[in-house]
Parts: sequence; C-alpha cells; structure tokens
Amino acid sequence: MNSWEIDLSGKATLVTGGSRGLGKAIALAMAEKGAKVAICGRKQENLDMAEKEFKEKGFDVLAQVAHVGKPEQLESLFQAIDQSFGRLDILVNNVGTNIFTRSVSEADEKLWDKLIETNLKSVFLASGQAAKRMKKQGSGKIVNISTIAARKAAPGMGIYSVAKAGVEMLTKVLAAELAPDHINVNAVAPGMVKTQFSKPFWSNESMLQEITRTIPMGRIAETEDVVGAVLFLSSSLSDFITGDIITVDGGFMA
Ligand SMILES: NC(=O)c1ccc[n+]([C@@H]2O[C@H](COP(=O)([O-])OP(=O)(O)OC[C@H]3O[C@@H](n4cnc5c(N)ncnc54)[C@H](OP(=O)(O)O)[C@@H]3O)[C@@H](O)[C@H]2O)c1
Repeated sequence: MNSWEIDLSGKATLVTGGSRGLGKAIALAMAEKGAKVAICGRKQENLDMAEKEFKEKGFDVLAQVAHVGKPEQLESLFQAIDQSFGRLDILVNNVGTNIFTRSVSEADEKLWDKLIETNLKSVFLASGQAAKRMKKQGSGKIVNISTIAARKAAPGMGIYSVAKAGVEMLTKVLAAELAPDHINVNAVAPGMVKTQFSKPFWSNESMLQEITRTIPMGRIAETEDVVGAVLFLSSSLSDFITGDIITVDGGFMA
C-alpha cells in the first residue's frame, strides 16, 4: 500500500559525483529519506569533506574515488557497493562537466573525447553495471541528470549539449529495454543551478541579472529545487513512470 510519502528506507543508492554540488545535495537527501548511500568523485579531499558532513548529520556514507569514465575504476566502485550493501536499488548518474567550447566544428578531438567520456559514456558504463545487479533483484531506479542545454544550443556548451542530448536518448532506450525487469530509467533536466559548475555565470552580477530576466520565475535554481524531482523518480511514487525527463528550470523552456 502506498503511503504517498517518499520513503527510501534501506535502499542501496549510488550518487556519482556526490562529493559536492547537486550530487552531494541529492546524496544527503537520500540519506535523510533512509537510504544507504555511496558517492564517488575524482578527488579524495572532496570526498573527505562530504564524508565529514554526512557524519555531522548522523549518516554513514561509502565514499570512494572513481572517475566515472574509466571502466576499471567504476568496476571497483560497484564491487565495494556489493561488499558493503549486497545490492543496488537506486543509481543517480549525476556527474557532468563542461569545458567552454567556442566552436564545435573547430574543436579539438581530445576535448570532444573527454567531454563525451565524462558526460555520456559514464552513464552508459554505470547504468550497465547497475542494470546487471538490478535485473537479478527484479527492481531498480536509474535517474540521469541532464540539462536544458540538451535541448537548446547555448554558447560555449556545444559538446556538453551533444553529450547530454545523448544522455536523454540513452534514458529512453534503457527505459524501454529494462522495463520488463521492473527497472525505471528517467532523467531530470535542470536549468542553471547555483553550484561550483555554474559559478562563472552567477558570480557575475550583471550576467546573473541577464540570465534571471529570461527565467519566468525570476531566479536560478538552488540545489534543493532539483533534489525533489530526483527523490520522486527514485521512490515508489513514480513506479509507472519510465523514459521521462522532468525539466526543473523555473519555466525557462516553457
Ligand atoms: N550547475 C548547473 O547550473 C547545472 C545545470 C544543469 C545541469 N547540471 C548538471 O548537474 C550535474 C551536477 O552538476 P554540479 O553543478 O553539481 O557540478 P559540480 O558542482 O561541478 O560537481 C560535480 C561533482 O562531480 C564530481 N566529478 C566531476 N567529474 C567527475 C568524474 N569524471 N568522475 C567522477 N566524479 C566526477 C565532482 O567531484 P571531483 O571534482 O572531486 O571529481 C563533484 O562531486 C551535472 O550532470 C551537470 O551537468 C548542472
């Protein structure tokens, strides 16, 4: 019987890039809802700081260094999850990075490969690892973090946008493929969120004013604005929703 509440008690969860920004906010919210949480990132010092915050709030966290574009590092992360949790109920593919690309047609091949690896291949790799485990369980939730830039070209975001458009289609393909195994695959596409990633934009007062003028709700998102959509898609409240993308942008794309 559904209690109409988001309850993630005992759910084994991995939030990639959970050491800061949006990923950390999602990971902490999952823990507050009762989940057993694992996070990863490239830098140990970021993971240490996140782990300290989890401990201060009374939560355990499995924090392991892993670059999500590197299959061998992901493999050892999933093995650590197997050992600690013995299952995986929720995967949040949160990692995403952009490197300003003036022109895609003239972009360096190495930059293309790097951005596709971190933003798109990573979702393919981690979802494959998760799906193997979720199929055995006969249940699971995968939530991918996209962006409105996946559907609207924006200056400097060319390769990132292409990769995230790939993430949105991968979401649909995996949703159709994994539905018979009772695995839901959905995405959340935020507009600008106040994190380190977007600091060059929101830390400049005149640029921030220009951006907020284009958002009907008149402000950029805080991480908390995005967390709710991720929690919903990770919970039993969304059991019959798959292959969908929730836009969290204060009406920008409306
Ligand atoms: N902020 C925005 O305005 C915005 C808007 C739309 C969508 N998004 C999406 O939201 C997601 C989270 O973004 P954010 O703003 O929270 O970014 P962020 O503040 O830069 O945080 C990124 C997190 O991912 C980790 N990370 C980066 N590259 C990694 C890699 N290759 N392997 C493993 N971990 C890695 C970082 O830790 P380390 O540095 O230690 O690796 C950090 O924990 C991304 O998918 C982004 O595309 C953000």
